[in-house]
Amino acid sequence: MSSPPDHRGSDRWWQTATIYHVYPRSLQDTVGDGVGDLPGVTQRLPDLAELGIDTVWLSPFYRSPMLDFGYDVTDHCDVDPVFGTLADVDELVETAHRLGLRVLLDYIPNHTSDQHRWFVEARSARDHPRRDWYVWSDPGTDGGVPNNWRSEFGGPAWTLDEATGQYYYHAYLAEQPNLNWHHPDVRRAMLDILRFWIDRGVDGFRLDAFRRLFVDRAFPDEPENPDYRPEIDNESFAVHPIHTSEQPELFDVVAELRRTIDAWGDHVLLGEVYVEPDALARYHLTPDRPGLHLAGNFNLLWTEWDAGSLADLVNRYEDALPDHAWPNWVLGNHDRSRIASRIGNAQARVAAMFLLTVRGTPTIYYGDELGMTDVIIPPELVQDPWEKNVPGRGFGRDPVRTPMPWDASDGHGFTTGTPWLPFGADAGGRNVASQRTDPASMWNLYRDLLRLRSDETALELGTMHDVRAQDGVLHYQRRWGDRTLLIVLDVGGSGGPLPPEGRRGTVLLSTNAARRPGRPAGARLGVAEGLVIALGPDHGSTPASDVPMTRR
Ligand code: NOJ
Repeated sequence: MSSPPDHRGSDRWWQTATIYHVYPRSLQDTVGDGVGDLPGVTQRLPDLAELGIDTVWLSPFYRSPMLDFGYDVTDHCDVDPVFGTLADVDELVETAHRLGLRVLLDYIPNHTSDQHRWFVEARSARDHPRRDWYVWSDPGTDGGVPNNWRSEFGGPAWTLDEATGQYYYHAYLAEQPNLNWHHPDVRRAMLDILRFWIDRGVDGFRLDAFRRLFVDRAFPDEPENPDYRPEIDNESFAVHPIHTSEQPELFDVVAELRRTIDAWGDHVLLGEVYVEPDALARYHLTPDRPGLHLAGNFNLLWTEWDAGSLADLVNRYEDALPDHAWPNWVLGNHDRSRIASRIGNAQARVAAMFLLTVRGTPTIYYGDELGMTDVIIPPELVQDPWEKNVPGRGFGRDPVRTPMPWDASDGHGFTTGTPWLPFGADAGGRNVASQRTDPASMWNLYRDLLRLRSDETALELGTMHDVRAQDGVLHYQRRWGDRTLLIVLDVGGSGGPLPPEGRRGTVLLSTNAARRPGRPAGARLGVAEGLVIALGPDHGSTPASDVPMTRR
């Protein structure tokens, strides 16, 4: 087993980490079947290291019938042949560590595939010892579903097992039955899986669908959601999931997972918890009973892209987080529209600067560093089960999972075969090879930002100050010792005067490649420009004693 890299002496490497989220089907195909694989990820690690990220999170590659592309697992401790073998994981982890990168895996505790041996046994008979590993109910009084619980992917969250006459619960597809975390053997078996991967050298886990682990065992109806808009909303919004999400027992599991994983060494738990900033704080528990290292903060996926909303979001989050907690920021993922599609390419550059200068561990979704946009998928090429279940409503996730274009060749350096999803129409020009050589490209902006971040402790670990919005511009400061950086982002897209304290400062980086670093910032911020400015030493330094001196 290889050792993880020494992250520049920080004892909490996940605070200074920059996480790059890989959707393995779409990074690099090495066998010509049009589907990315693990040797492909290994092959591309040097490219990712060159970009400047230091942690890779892989969406699932476990054995799976692929009805939800790997989030329906039949064996959590083996690799699906489409992605490779266990030896390929070892090679990937080994190579990553050699390059100074850490590796996080997707851990799927909420459900398994209905083909998983556990579920096959559980459904075989009502009195099978494995029966209670899943969530079963007799039919409701009318002989139909037990209650009004909705599946995230459309339809009821209950499916009848005809042979045994009971319904089983699934928060997602019928082929993804929920595990019963009340059962101690389930907990043990799921912890064993973490141990299995830690023994193979991985550095941590992203916890999938984490809020769903428990349901109220009395199975009461969920209350109706009066704000539900059937024309546009996901059908599961018809009810408030107060009995199927974030049940009190969840927080005992949070504490148990953290205790367990910390006892095994220096690893990280990053939870998928889609909640408002204030509610994220709960997942960190308390200093003597710590919770998740990182509670995935997805608020940028739905917050209006305007300076006021962003300032409010940052302030709410900073105010809510307890002192022992560390922030996380996510700009995009494999489930939601890409940032460049949501706010346009010019603002996606501003967003990149926000992501990499705001306090907290950033998560970059593969391809966002090229400014990839959502790709329209013709109906005959649709892969995503959600789109298949609820067609034409815009819920499908294929558009954000298209293959990475590495160069301008036919298969864009991704495949020699037919890609599992089509490339974007712009892949001929928007690819890694062409952007590498263009100093004004998004790829180079990401690289410069990542470099600046790793050079500036104020960006990695510094405190956050004076977050405010003014005339469409978002301002904030990061401080470390006597170093103060001012970040100014033209979110409104009309430019404007720079705040007086910034004018005499020195530009460290602009989203506008034409503005050279090392010069005074001057009076104005350009249209859709973002600036990182080093202020003189007279600007609001933090007493060194207030700063946790964990590094340098
Ligand atoms: C959240 C994952 O991000 C998504 O892709 C998946 O379909 C569901 N959880 C179910 O595992």
